[in-house]
Amino acid sequence: MIQISKLIKTYENGDNKLYALNDISFEIKDGDFAVIVGASGSGKSTLLNTISGLEKADSGSIMHDGKEIFGLNDKELTAFRRARVGFIFQAYYLLPSLSVEANIKMGAALAGNNEAAGIIEAVGLNGKEKRLPHQLSGGEQQRVSIARALAKKPAALFCDEPTGALDEATGRQILKYLIQIQRESKLTLIMVTHNSNIANLATQIIKMSSGKVVEIIKNPEPSDIDKIGW
Ligand SMILES: Nc1ncnc2c1ncn2[C@@H]1O[C@H](COP(=O)(O)OP(=O)(O)O)[C@@H](O)[C@H]1O
Ligand SMILES: [Mg+2]
Repeated sequence: MIQISKLIKTYENGDNKLYALNDISFEIKDGDFAVIVGASGSGKSTLLNTISGLEKADSGSIMHDGKEIFGLNDKELTAFRRARVGFIFQAYYLLPSLSVEANIKMGAALAGNNEAAGIIEAVGLNGKEKRLPHQLSGGEQQRVSIARALAKKPAALFCDEPTGALDEATGRQILKYLIQIQRESKLTLIMVTHNSNIANLATQIIKMSSGKVVEIIKNPEPSDIDKIGW
């Protein structure tokens, strides 16, 4: 369970403070698929990055399975991220000189486990283990980044616009993979998107506007990926 309470994060903005996160509270149950939606600049990425321990907040509480991560120092935050969370971004951030397999094993090595083969299979990259990132399509590169994140066996997977750089068909395929893997391994999936169609796939929809959560919708019967618009 992830419990966020009274989370505030500001940025300097001339003489004023910009409230990127303005008193945010909500919770995400284990195995939920939560989508964070809102206009550009509403604070979605800042929220994802603070919850996942990539960025520090000014104040508030961020609990992962009862453990407070607000106030941890850099070293403690790094240890927390390695043990608990995986990341997928719009850009794939693969190491260009490393093979598919080596990129994926990087994730596993960081968290000290080594079961790359099953994960390569799960994301459909069989036979492409020895290729370099530039020898793959965008969708395949994103699958490598998903596999790398999964290799850590995270309790929660944080995704910021994971299909933002992909065409519709590939984007749908990537989301299908993510949702399938999430259900099979009972991962908690937290995804930022500005595509409101994607929100209907989630079990919880968190709507943001100007640094605030303006609505939370529970969606016990999420739509099927093949039935949503794009
Ligand atoms: N490093 C930063 N320095 C200053 N302002 C920032 C920084 N990162 C984000 N912001 C501001 O915080 C607000 C929220 O940004 P962000 O979380 O990236 O929004 P979103 O992901 O919804 O587009 C925006 O007004 C943005 O300009
Ligand atoms: Mg963003």
